Amino acid sequence: MIQSDVDLQPYNTLAIAARAAHFARVETLEQLQEALEFARRKHLPILPLGGGSNIVLTGDFPGLVVHLDNPGLSISKQGDCTSITAGAGENWHRLVLATVDRGLGGLENLALIPGRIGAAPIQNIGAYGVELRDTFQSLEAVHVATGEVHRFSAAECEFGYRDSVFKGRARDQYIITSVCLHLPEEWHPRTDYPALQQYFREQQVDATGLTPRGVADAVIAVRTSKLPDPGVIPNAGSFFKNPVVDRELYHELKQAYPDLVAYEVGDRWKLAAGWLIDRAGWRGRRQGAVGVHERQALVLVNPGRGNGAEVTGLAREIAADIKARYGVELEPEPRYYP
Ligand code: FAD
Ligand code: EPU
Repeated sequence: MIQSDVDLQPYNTLAIAARAAHFARVETLEQLQEALEFARRKHLPILPLGGGSNIVLTGDFPGLVVHLDNPGLSISKQGDCTSITAGAGENWHRLVLATVDRGLGGLENLALIPGRIGAAPIQNIGAYGVELRDTFQSLEAVHVATGEVHRFSAAECEFGYRDSVFKGRARDQYIITSVCLHLPEEWHPRTDYPALQQYFREQQVDATGLTPRGVADAVIAVRTSKLPDPGVIPNAGSFFKNPVVDRELYHELKQAYPDLVAYEVGDRWKLAAGWLIDRAGWRGRRQGAVGVHERQALVLVNPGRGNGAEVTGLAREIAADIKARYGVELEPEPRYYP
């Protein structure tokens, strides 16, 4: 079941060529336990892998890649909500379509996000004004060190903007095997995100008669118009998180750049990193095999199938330039391995 020296290029959406010393494709809990036991015996680091759409391979991975391929999707009525339980290996977008095609609302703004369900809680995926935490109920995860199954409630996941306990205190300690979501019976479309508003205006859609499928279709259209399809142009989505800065820095920047795009969050401001990078002149720039997407400056692309050093080198250059110009630190969103 465990293979050695496996090419990871087909397993990451940046299409970076790198090799895994060991690779296990797991479909069941028993196979996962066996794989973890193998890694424990050999003292190997582990890389839990879903669709590989939020990782950057900076070199060969010396440990065990555990590719979660356990399927399973159940959608059932529970009191005044719909309960969805999905295996970590299920495709996220397929789940969204399964709900909107049944007329169920709650996940439509998260349509077309690449990857698998097991990775969705890691950074609390979000788009167009909605995050996973809005419908998240619980998850089950296997503790890497002991092989025991633990259940995490929403509070225990400590979700934040592109953040969870699995990126903090519990980093590398758990492999998520299933996720449970609750969709409330009463549904209100969430269409306040500026790009969605603009889409409905342009298409002359009357927002009052919207269905979950209608919102999903709009999200799909907006995303397709600016985000590159990783199957065509390799990428990992937004390469940096949108930075959150204090009030003083925001006001300073807003005065210098009146068209700066920013959103108030509590007493701080979240800046559109794509705007900063675009305004700094990086959008559409190519640097050897890698570059900055021409329609969305927050997305680094790898059309020439460069290596991890080329991708991270470009990211470092951009971050240094943004720091020098605006005094703003950019933090990469995808995780670097090893
Ligand atoms: P992977 O890349 O395989 O893994 C990501 C991280 O999660 C790794 O650290 C990995 O070890 C860990 N992990 C994966 N599975 C498990 C598991 N079962 N248990 C424990 N750890 C695990 N993200 C958004 O939030 N919003 C967006 O709008 C969005 N748009 C995107 C658009 C494009 C074109 C692309 C390429 C990416 C986009 N992303 C977006 C990022 C990405 O799709 C999400 O982060 C997604 O959840 C990653 O899923 P994955 O299965 O590919 O994860
Ligand atoms: N902008 C520019 N130039 C650019 C890119 C963006 O001026 O090159 C401006 C846009 O015009 C807009 C603002 O910046 O006014 C925000 O852009 P957009 O709506 O495209 O969203 P984003 O902030 O760049 C975030 C998420 C995306 C998510 C979208 C929609 C992060 C890091 N990224 O992008 O998530 O799909 O909002 O909600 O939060 C991902 O995480 O991988 C990802 C794609």
